Amino acid sequence: MKTLGIGLAGARYGARMHLANYAKLPRDIVEVRGVCSRTKESGGALAREFRIGFATDDFDALLARKDIDAVDICVPPALHHEFAIRGADAGKHIIMEKPLTGYFGTAGDPEPIGTQVSRARMREGAGKNAEAVREAVRRNGVKFCYAENWIYAPPIEKMRRLIAASKGSILELRAEENHSGSNSVFSRDWKSTGGGALLRMGVHSVGACLHLKQWEGQLRLGKGIRPVSVLADTADLIHSSAARRAGEAGANRWISANPVDVENWANLIISFDDGSRGNIIVSDVGLGGLNTRVTAFMTDGVIKSNMTANDAIETYAPDASAFSGEYFTEKLETKAGWNRPSCDEDWFRGFAQEMEDFVGAIRENREPRSGIDLAVECVNAIYAAYLSAEKGSRVMID
Ligand SMILES: NC(=O)c1ccc[n+]([C@@H]2O[C@H](COP(=O)([O-])OP(=O)(O)OC[C@H]3O[C@@H](n4cnc5c(N)ncnc54)[C@H](OP(=O)(O)O)[C@@H]3O)[C@@H](O)[C@H]2O)c1
Repeated sequence: MKTLGIGLAGARYGARMHLANYAKLPRDIVEVRGVCSRTKESGGALAREFRIGFATDDFDALLARKDIDAVDICVPPALHHEFAIRGADAGKHIIMEKPLTGYFGTAGDPEPIGTQVSRARMREGAGKNAEAVREAVRRNGVKFCYAENWIYAPPIEKMRRLIAASKGSILELRAEENHSGSNSVFSRDWKSTGGGALLRMGVHSVGACLHLKQWEGQLRLGKGIRPVSVLADTADLIHSSAARRAGEAGANRWISANPVDVENWANLIISFDDGSRGNIIVSDVGLGGLNTRVTAFMTDGVIKSNMTANDAIETYAPDASAFSGEYFTEKLETKAGWNRPSCDEDWFRGFAQEMEDFVGAIRENREPRSGIDLAVECVNAIYAAYLSAEKGSRVMID
């Protein structure tokens, strides 16, 4: 089988993460052959650093290259669906960062759209964007690899094996993610990200819950267990009077996010067609470094998966600078006191494994574990949740 040629769209955090994990695979299996960025400087710098032969600021130039078999889309979410469709129409396989897409506004929308546009309108627009990508992938017969790293993480892999080893059913999945807020300027506005913490972060928790119930259904019943409805609440805790009160008292120094029109806290309950529940809580106001967990409450046991800080290694230092040269974990505020750095974040969080599966799926002409259907279902569930939060009542998922 020939070496898979990758063209990266995007040259910052997401692209670097993917590059680091392609580099763990043998070079005769996969090679990153081009990079495209908004500015020439950014892609050029990445190309020099990682010895990538081609850099451009024109996505069409990347698509025109015959030595590129797949495009890896790590651009801001508002560009995801358009880039995916253009890539598929050019005959390229697609590797796509989360979320698949969302609603980013249409001409004539009042601004800021996050507070001015109805969630019903947004849900319809996001659903159309998602379906357009699925249709383009099917029309062109290309693979679509959805970079939902949680379902590749070893703690979730072990959870699947434990569930399979039992005869039990999952009654509740409880998934959570929090940190002290995204620093990306794009994360502040709905029109750039398609939502706030619920979409940007919650897409992982939702993806894990949908995947696990789908997988459990296939295992036990020969067909997936489907989400039927969602009940949700969202909030802007950062601009709450509680946060202001702390600011006035000289506190509240650590939460870095400053959103314009997006939520920074969300809680949603997904009802599945076997009567079980997925209970998801995400927050941009959680200090202590990235926290990502999924717990399966089963009929015959409990399985707790922790993809971030765990006690494989623990450090103590009175001075925050004692271990300053070594990476601990994403979004950790301080290295002072007791800490639990990740031994290998790419491995624990499933980034290495997802890239291995994607490269294998494309080369072997098989479906990846995380594909277009999961990507579309996450968008549908999340926008149903946005509508539920607006209405204050349960919303059916189509
Ligand atoms: N799975 C995870 O845990 C995780 C973590 C972080 C991010 N992500 C995802 O990764 C993706 C990228 O995030 P990021 O943090 O890397 O974003 P970012 O820092 O905003 O970088 C976006 C990149 O896209 C490029 N770009 C923007 N417009 C473009 C255009 N029209 N044509 C070509 N390139 C363009 C930018 O070029 P310039 O450099 O020239 O500005 C930049 O390199 C997002 O979808 C995000 O959700 C996932």
